[in-house]
Amino acid sequence: MQVVSVKKALDGSVAPDTKVEVRGWVRTRRDSKAGISFVNVSDGSTFDPIQVVAPNTLSNYEADVLRLTAGCSVVCRGTLVKSQGKGQSFEVQADEVRVLGFVDDPDTYPIQPKQHSLEFLREVAHLRPRTNTFGAITRVRHTAAQAIHRFFHEEGFFWVNTPIITASDAEGAGQMFRVSTLDTVNPPRTDTGKIDWSKDFFGKEAYLTVSGQLNVEAYCLALSKVYTFGPTFRAENSNTTRHLAEFWMIEPEIAFADLNDDANLAERFLKYVFQAVLTECAPDMKFFEERQQKGVTERLEKFIQSSFERIDYTDAIEILKKAKKKFEYAPEWGKDLQTEHERYLAEEHVGRPVVVMNYPEQIKAFYMRMNDDGKTVAAMDVLAPGIGEIIGGSQREERLDRLDERMKKFGLHPEGYQWFRDLRRYGSVPHAGFGLGFERLIVYMCGLQNIRDAIPYPRVPGWAQF
Ligand code: 4AD
Ligand code: MG
Repeated sequence: MQVVSVKKALDGSVAPDTKVEVRGWVRTRRDSKAGISFVNVSDGSTFDPIQVVAPNTLSNYEADVLRLTAGCSVVCRGTLVKSQGKGQSFEVQADEVRVLGFVDDPDTYPIQPKQHSLEFLREVAHLRPRTNTFGAITRVRHTAAQAIHRFFHEEGFFWVNTPIITASDAEGAGQMFRVSTLDTVNPPRTDTGKIDWSKDFFGKEAYLTVSGQLNVEAYCLALSKVYTFGPTFRAENSNTTRHLAEFWMIEPEIAFADLNDDANLAERFLKYVFQAVLTECAPDMKFFEERQQKGVTERLEKFIQSSFERIDYTDAIEILKKAKKKFEYAPEWGKDLQTEHERYLAEEHVGRPVVVMNYPEQIKAFYMRMNDDGKTVAAMDVLAPGIGEIIGGSQREERLDRLDERMKKFGLHPEGYQWFRDLRRYGSVPHAGFGLGFERLIVYMCGLQNIRDAIPYPRVPGWAQF
């Protein structure tokens, strides 16, 4: 008896007529007049369930098999045979079907064998992994994460685990969640009535990180090629289909590199990850193609084959101004590009991914390198057809005097950033990096409409459970 995953049972890696044991959860049961039940069992290892053929000669046929409903957990033993039915390669002719757990009240079990709306499934985030959709998203998420680590490893990068609790606002945008052990009802106060943070756990104010970039820059200026891949948190009150309060971010950082090197890295990186998912998650991608968004696989294939177009921000504004298309927001130099602008550039203007470079300094973060024109910084956004910005990055300001000027402009106090300033005082070098929101990547690859379906347990304004 060989215990096998459904994936192995279906993919031909187990010889026909082998005695196998498969374990999983019932998707559907169908009974034939001839006294045979066909039970589809999924264990999540692959998209398809396996069909278990259970004859009425089983001793518990009436007591158990005929009571099976969606969601019941079973252990099935029998012979793996080539299937006669169409749509599946192999099936199990069962000698034994053991039920580990029935479903209390099958009529109210939330995951019925029918198509549920994604909105409804968000209400049952603990059960939605049992659906086709969330099984597929979970496998794609895993495969993409593996490919990301593999890509960087093959390119000689080191993965650095940057802290989740931090004192510095890496983006300087004031969107941090506070971490505190103080009594929120009656916090200790100073003589002047202000909250006395010196009584807090860390003896000062602490927050959840919005980005690992500043910390990873320190490692970059020693190990040359590094990246972070971890959770980040933003208290932006945007109740949208593109924002999460907790999301995962990938942030590579390269030393002795400029903005062009950064754009080249982003291009190689995205293509590598897309290729891995197309190759390794073919059945899941087929499902997304059919059920989420037609053309999603072709979009990725085209992406892999295209070379990225590079456009200066200033030129992009001119292109947008000349465009025949009516935009909701008029493009204007000095303002950030809206998604409609980004999509126009990538989809209609060039028809492939675009890297927009050198944005006005006033709309970009304090750590970005000032260009010689004194008006723009060496920032880049990678715009993907069908979504718009997918990656944001920059060459970093490696000159201390310029960094200080920019921090001053942003109203940031140098005291909180002394360690970051040190990197510019001790052996500073040109360096660059970018950030990719992992869930935005999942949304793009799977053709999802809402980022809340790209992470197992979404945290958004008003979130209350799980
Ligand atoms: O553009 P952002 O704010 O850049 C940074 O954080 C830099 N430190 C990156 C770097 O250069 N190392 O965020 C980077 C990416 C965005 O392009 C987007 O994909 C994602 O993070 N992102 C979010 N994803 C989900 N929910 C949110 N609220 C997000 N905010 C940003
Ligand atoms: Mg950005």
